[in-house]
Amino acid sequence: MFDPMKKGNAYCCLINGHWQEGSLAPVEVTRPADGGLLGTVPALSHKEVDAAFRAAKAAQKQWAETPISVRSAILHEASFLLEEKAEAIASILSQEISKDMASSLSEVKRTADFIRFTADEGKHMEGEMVGADSFPGFNKKRFSIVTRVPLGVVLAISPFNYPVNLSASKIAPALMAGNSVILKPPTSGAISALHLAAVFHEAGLPAGVLNTVTGRGSDIGDYLVTHPMVDFISFTGSTAVGKRIARQVGMVPLLLELGGKDAALVLEDADLDDAAKDIVSGAYSYSGQRCTAVKRVLALESIADALVEKIKERVLALKTGMPHEKVQVTPLINDKAADYVQELIDDAIEKGATLICGNKREKNLIYPTLFDNVTTDMRLAWEEPFGPVLPIMRIQDVEEGIDIANRSEYGLQASVFTKNIDSAFSIAERLEVGTVHINNKTERGPDHFPFLGVKSSGMGTQGIRYSIEAMSRRKVVVVNLEP
Ligand code: NAP
Ligand code: G3H
Repeated sequence: MFDPMKKGNAYCCLINGHWQEGSLAPVEVTRPADGGLLGTVPALSHKEVDAAFRAAKAAQKQWAETPISVRSAILHEASFLLEEKAEAIASILSQEISKDMASSLSEVKRTADFIRFTADEGKHMEGEMVGADSFPGFNKKRFSIVTRVPLGVVLAISPFNYPVNLSASKIAPALMAGNSVILKPPTSGAISALHLAAVFHEAGLPAGVLNTVTGRGSDIGDYLVTHPMVDFISFTGSTAVGKRIARQVGMVPLLLELGGKDAALVLEDADLDDAAKDIVSGAYSYSGQRCTAVKRVLALESIADALVEKIKERVLALKTGMPHEKVQVTPLINDKAADYVQELIDDAIEKGATLICGNKREKNLIYPTLFDNVTTDMRLAWEEPFGPVLPIMRIQDVEEGIDIANRSEYGLQASVFTKNIDSAFSIAERLEVGTVHINNKTERGPDHFPFLGVKSSGMGTQGIRYSIEAMSRRKVVVVNLEP
C-alpha cells in the first residue's frame, strides 16, 4: 500500500503539509535489541529547517484565528486515530526504543488520553475582567479585559524514552493554545514520533501547523534552538543538553524537564512490603530509563536488613529479555548507555558497596542490579544511571536522609514511605524537589497534575493545563468609559 510518509524504509519529514525527503544522507535508526535497521529519517539541511519554520510561521496566525471548538475537534480526531492505530504504533515503538510491548502499548494509549483531555481542557482557558476600583484612587469607569494569546512558533524537542508521549505532551497543549509547532524528535524514537505526526496530519491539521525536523541533535540542535523564528522552546531530555540550550537562547521562553535522582526515604514505621513493591517497579520499569525512576533508596538502619531482603526478592523475580517478550528489563538504548551504567556499577564495587544481585551484562542488556551499603563517596549515590541499577544507602536518622536527598544537584521528585502522615508532611516540606509522593513510587502521572523539576531537573511546569498556560501569555486591553 502507498504510504506518503515513507519510501521503502526511508521515512520523510512533514513540512507544510507534505512528506518530504531531506537532501543530505539520511540518519539510520537501528533496533537497540539486535542492531538491525528499522528505517532511516532525513538529516535536514539548514535550508530545509528554514522551510519548516517559514511554514510554521505562515500557518500560525490562521490557526490562532480558528475557533477553539474546531481546534479541539481536530485533536479529538487525532486521539481517536491514535487509539485505533495503537497496536501498530506500539509495535514500532517497542522495536525502536527497546521498550517492552505492554509498556509501549500503554505509552500510546496514555498519549491518546492525554490528547483527548487537552482538547477538552483547552476550551476552558477563559480570561478575566479586572476592575480598576480595587486599587486606591480608581473607579469603576476603568477595567481591564485579560485574555490568553498564543506565543507563535513552539519548538518541541523530545527524548528517546517516551518519543510518542513526550512529543504529544508538547504538541497538543501548544496547538490548543493556538501555536504552530516544529517537532524535533529524538533520533532513537524518530520513526514512532513521525507516526504520531502522521496521526495529527490525518486528523485534519492544516498544512504548516505541525512540522517535523529530524537529524541528530548534535548536528542541528544549535541551529534549531537559536533560529530567529522560535517563540518558545519546550525541551525534555538530559540536564547537559538542557543547560546548553538555556545558555544559548537569550530571551526566548523555555520549559525544561531534565534529569533526576529521585530518592525513596523509607522510615521505621513504613509498610515494608508495599514500599519494596513500589520501589522495585519504580526503579526497574523500562530498565530504569525514566526521569522519574526511583534512583536511590535511603533506608533507616533499623529496617534496612528487612527492606533489602524484600527488595532483593522482587528484583530476582523481574524478567529480563527482549522487548517483544513479557519482560520488565530490556536492552538499553545503545552500547554507550550500557557502558556508562557499567562504569557506575564498577565504581560502587571498587569502593566497597555490597552487590546483592545483578552485575551481569550481554552487550547493551544489563541485568537488574541491586546494591546495599552504598556510601556518599560513590558515583552511584549522585549520578543518574538511566539503567536498571538501584543503590540502597543506609541512614542513621531522618535528618541524614533529608540531607543526602537534598545534596543532589537534581530536584525532580522523591518518595516518603511511612504510616505517620505528620512526619510525611513535614519531610515533604523540606525536600527540595518538584513533587513528593507519600507511600508511592515517584512517577509523572496522572498527566493533568503539575509536573516540574527544581535545581538541575528543570524549569517551568508541565501538566495539561500548566503546559497550555506556559505556551500562551496574557494579553490585556484596558477599557476607559466616559467619565
Ligand atoms: P538528550 O540526549 O538530552 O536528548 C533529548 C533530545 O534533545 C533529543 O531529541 C536529542 O536529539 C536532542 N538534542 C541533542 N543534542 C541537542 C542539542 N545540542 N540541541 C538541541 N537538542 C539536542 O536526552 P535523552 O538521552 O533522549 O533522554 C534521557 C534524559 O532525559 C535523561 O537524563 C532523563 O532523565 C531525561 N528526561 C527527563 C524527563 C523529565 O520530564 N524530567 C523526561 C524524560 C527524560 P538526538 O536524539 O538526535 O540526539
Ligand atoms: O522519563 C520521564 C517521564 O516524564 C517519566 O514519566 O513517570 O510516567 O514514567 P513516567
